[in-house]
This record gives sequence, structure tokens and C-alpha cells, in this order.
Amino acid sequence: MKRTFAAIAVAAATLTGASTSAWAQNYPTRPITMIVPFAAGGPTDVVARIVGESMSKTLGQQIVIENVAGAGGTTGITRGAQAQPDGYTIMMGHMGTHGAAPALYPKLRYDPTKDFAPIGMAAGTPILIVARKDYPAKDLKEFIARLKTEQDKANEAHAGVGSVSFTTCTMFNVMNGIKPTRVPYTGTGPVINDMIGGKVDYACDQIVNLVTQIQGGNIRAYAIATPARSPALPDVPTTKEAGLPDYQVSAWNAVFAPKNTPPAVVAKLNEALVKALDDPGTKKRLLDLGGVLPEGKERTSAWLGEYVAQEVARWTPILKAGGVVAP
Ligand code: MLT
Repeated sequence: MKRTFAAIAVAAATLTGASTSAWAQNYPTRPITMIVPFAAGGPTDVVARIVGESMSKTLGQQIVIENVAGAGGTTGITRGAQAQPDGYTIMMGHMGTHGAAPALYPKLRYDPTKDFAPIGMAAGTPILIVARKDYPAKDLKEFIARLKTEQDKANEAHAGVGSVSFTTCTMFNVMNGIKPTRVPYTGTGPVINDMIGGKVDYACDQIVNLVTQIQGGNIRAYAIATPARSPALPDVPTTKEAGLPDYQVSAWNAVFAPKNTPPAVVAKLNEALVKALDDPGTKKRLLDLGGVLPEGKERTSAWLGEYVAQEVARWTPILKAGGVVAP
């Protein structure tokens, strides 16, 4: 009797394994949803649509962007983490949702280091300090000085506690002893729209959301928080050149699937992402917007998993020192 049961169990496991591998080999057979956890038109949405369009061509199925905003991106990522691990729901996370969020959300409903199958890094996104075009300060030093004297009147806009814009401007504000009115939005797409309209004084945002508006003179960039200037914005000084050398910060956007997504599916998604990054048109679009593309091992799923763990470990003490905790 025992032998029969064991034989049935082995056969079932073999069939299950065989059916999973056959199913995974045929993947994808229908459109794939990519959750973007912020409003349309912001940096995460821009990166997702650019790489998603190219990935669709490789996969032979449409990647459909679904914007699920709220709670600094954690609402959308929570939904992504809880989706079926079948490869038909993936998500674009970033330094906020998968690095800063654990420090800011004590009741976060996912663990960035455990609840995902990392697919791959899409683009690094240097941070710029930007302001409405008529802000009365000619350079970063004057900007900081004015903010210090007028902080009760200044407003800084971000995409919610835990977002990149919130996290990086928390650093900027704490470093300079500035306490502005902080205004949450559903993404920095709407933030920059309101900055162009003069309703927002300043923000810390990702370069891919800013190049066009800066080049068009619609908003003002005081500095980029990277050691070197961006080829996409050669006239914008670094924070070091502008007198704030300690403010060095970049963000990143990367593709994730829910944990337990079959390895064959993860491999197909990673292959499509890597092909997108090598596609000349896709590469040019991301580089023209100031994106920094991963090279070599930085393109692997394994590297992304290690990097997320490093980012959580890096941001947690910084943010806890800043005394910021979300509800
Ligand atoms: C966005 O896409 O709106 C940004 O990534 C939000 C943020 O993290 O600042």
C-alpha cells in the first residue's frame, strides 16, 4: 500500500513539474500587466512604458501598464506582491518602494528582500533639486539660504511617504535644517505639472522626469546630486560644484515579479528586459532622458536581489535618523 502511494506521489510530482515546465516554456500566451505604483507621466511610468514597449516585441505579448498610486508607491507594490506568481503580473519598483519603504512603514505589507522574484534593473535615475522657474534664487547656495529664511512659506512636493522624491528631499531638508510644508501627490508627474504652473516651490526628482522641462525652461534645476554632470543636462552643475558636496543621491527603477514565479518565466522576462536595454531606440530614449543603464552583471536577476538587500540596509538608518515614520 505504502509503495503504491509513494509511486502515485512521485508520478504526480513529475506530472506537476512537467506541466509547470511545459507551461513556463510556452509563456507568455496572453498580455502581461505591469503595475506602475505612481501616477502616469512620472519617472517610474516613463521608464516602464519605454522598456515595456520593447519587452512586448520580444515576448510577443503586449505589456499593459496599470498605474496603481498611493502611499508612496507601496499600495501598487503590495498588490503586485500578492498577485498570482504566473508571470502575468509584474511591476516597476524603485529605490523608494524597495529600499526606503521598510524604514518608513512599520506595517509595510511586503518585504522587499523576500516577497519578490527580481527580474532586472531597468535604469538608474540621478536626482536633481528643481524649483519653479521664477523662484528668486540664482544658484543653489542662494536657494538654500532663502529656503531657510522663508521655510514657513515654502512648499516642497513629493510623491508620498516612501517615494524617491520624499526620501531624497528628506535628506536635502534635514541636511540643510529646512522645514518646508511638504505636499504629497500621487506621483512626480503631477508634481512637475504643478511646478510649471507655479503652485509648487521645489522638489527632488528623478532626471528622466525633468530633462524635457528643464531644456524647455519650464522649471529650474539648481543641481544634480551625482559626482559628475549628466550628458543629458551638461549645463546643470553637480551639488559639489554648487556648494553642497555631501548631497549625493541617485535612484533606480527595476522590474519585479511576485515571489515563486517559475524560474523559466523569470528568465524569459529578464531576457526581454536585457534585449530592451540593448535595443538602439530604447537605449537612446532612456539615455536622452538622463537614464543610467545597467551593464554586465547589474543586468542579472540575482544581482538585483542582492542590490535590494543592500539598499534596504543603506536607507533604513538614514531615514530612522531623520525621524520620519509613515502611519
Ligand atoms: C514617480 O514615478 O512619480 C516617482 O517615481 C515617484 C517618486 O518616487 O518620487
